[in-house]
Formats: sequence, structure tokens, C-alpha cells
Amino acid sequence: METSNSECSLNGKKVVILGGSSGLGLATSKAAAAEGAHVIIVSSNAARVQNAVAELPGTGFGMQADLSDETSIKHLFEEIGMLDHLVFTAGESLLLSKIAETEVSTAREFFNLRYWGAFMAVKYAAPRVNAGGSIVLTGGIVSARPNAGWSIGASICAAMDGFTRAMAVELAPIRVNLVSPGIIRTNLWSSMAETERDAFYEQVAGTLPVRRVGEAEQIAQTYIYLMRQPFVTGQILVTDGGAVLV
Ligand SMILES: NC(=O)c1ccc[n+]([C@@H]2O[C@H](COP(=O)([O-])OP(=O)(O)OC[C@H]3O[C@@H](n4cnc5c(N)ncnc54)[C@H](OP(=O)(O)O)[C@@H]3O)[C@@H](O)[C@H]2O)c1
Repeated sequence: METSNSECSLNGKKVVILGGSSGLGLATSKAAAAEGAHVIIVSSNAARVQNAVAELPGTGFGMQADLSDETSIKHLFEEIGMLDHLVFTAGESLLLSKIAETEVSTAREFFNLRYWGAFMAVKYAAPRVNAGGSIVLTGGIVSARPNAGWSIGASICAAMDGFTRAMAVELAPIRVNLVSPGIIRTNLWSSMAETERDAFYEQVAGTLPVRRVGEAEQIAQTYIYLMRQPFVTGQILVTDGGAVLV
């Protein structure tokens, strides 16, 4: 079976981006829209969704949903109907804390959006993915390279790696892949004071082979690649400026 040009192109494709109002999701939404995709941006805050849609270079639409809530996700996909590509980038600021100081109930809650939200989104979206379509999830290199205090983030990212491989097998021929970013300059780090954040970025940049932290627009290219590349599935695509090497 030959691959048609239209299979590799996002032009005219319906691309749903869960967590598309900010950061990696917004940059991916813009890149997909610039390639001619019909983008649907989803996040929990209606005003942020509308602001994000207004920034798109092409056609786009916004919907509000709490992606940690099953009923909300079920209704979302009933409303969206058939789609070509699903991207999941929703996430909240990380909880960094050593295990001795971590409340178990708080640790459990952190799985609700980033793991269970992705799980539920895949469950309700998969039956609606058109032939040739794909799902791109989000993890992080912390699964492979954790520091002290990262038990929750590392566990979620490792769970996402395994979930991605399992879904690539189970949902085939739908392709399922995951982007594993390093440190990227986005609102995820906005809970830090600006000077503290700048010092953090500078310190990280100095350790990396590429000598800079990532920008959301750079990581967006990995999501776009995984949507367009018809012969890649079950892969964890590390996009980290070489962080896992050092
Ligand atoms: N930035 C990094 O350095 C980095 C590194 C590795 C992995 N990651 C992972 O990449 C993912 C995206 O991060 P980012 O940097 O793009 O963060 P971001 O700029 O903070 O974006 C997070 C997105 O998630 C949405 N969101 C939060 N809670 C939601 C909910 N309950 N329901 C629906 N949407 C919700 C936010 O929109 P609303 O607030 O409008 O709902 C926003 O669109 C996260 O899982 C993050 O852990 C990021």
C-alpha cells in the first residue's frame, strides 16, 4: 500500500489539541493551523481558549472541558465527532517534593489530569479517529532522568511511556506516539518568581549540549512530525537538547 501525499499532510485534517490554550499545546495548535489543519483547541478555561483561537494563523475552533473529568471528556468527544489527530498536552504545575514530605492523597491527585486525563481522552477519542490518523501524548525525560523530589512527575511520565506503547499495539492501525520534552520555557514554570525562573533556565541551559532551554515552538515540530509520519508508532520521541546525555 503506497502512502499518499494527503496522508502525510495536515492540510484539511481535523486536529484536536487538549491543553491547546498555552505552552506546548498552543505552539502545536499554531503550527498545525499554519499547515492548513482545522484545529480544535480544548482547555478548562473558556477565556484562555478563545484567546488561543484568536492567535491561530488559520482556521480554528475552541471548546472548554475539564480534562480530569470523565463525563466532561465523554461529552467533548460526542460533540467533536470524527477527527484525524488527537494531541494531549494538558497538565498543571508540577508538585516537586521529597517522598518523606509528600502527602499520599496529594500525590495521587496529580495523576488525575496528566495520566488519567490522557487515558480517558484516548478511550473516548480512539473510536472516532479516521483512517490514517494518530494520537500524540506527552511525557517527559524525568521518567529517565529524575532528580530528588521528582517521584510524582517521574512516575506519571513513566506510566505515560508504557501507556503509549500499549495503545500503539492495541489501537493499531491508529498510530500512538509520545513526545518527551526536556525543560521548555512555558507557563508550566509560572509558579516560580520571575528572577528564580530566569536563574533556573540559565542554570539548565549551561548544562545542556545545546546550551539553551527549549522553546514551545521547537517542541511543536516534534508533535507535527509524529502526526505526519505514517511509519512511526509506539515511540517515545525525546526532544530535550541532549539533557538525558549529561
Ligand atoms: N514545559 C516543560 O518544561 C515541560 C517539560 C516536560 C513535560 N512537560 C509536560 O508537557 C505538558 C504541557 O506543558 P506546558 O509546558 O505546555 O504547560 P502549560 O503552558 O502550563 O499548558 C498546560 C495546558 O493544560 C491546560 N490544562 C490545565 N489543567 C487542565 C484541565 N483540568 N482541563 C483541561 N486543560 C487543562 C491549560 O489550560 P487551562 O489552564 O486554560 O485549562 C494549558 O493549556 C504538561 O503535561 C507538562 O508536564 C512540560
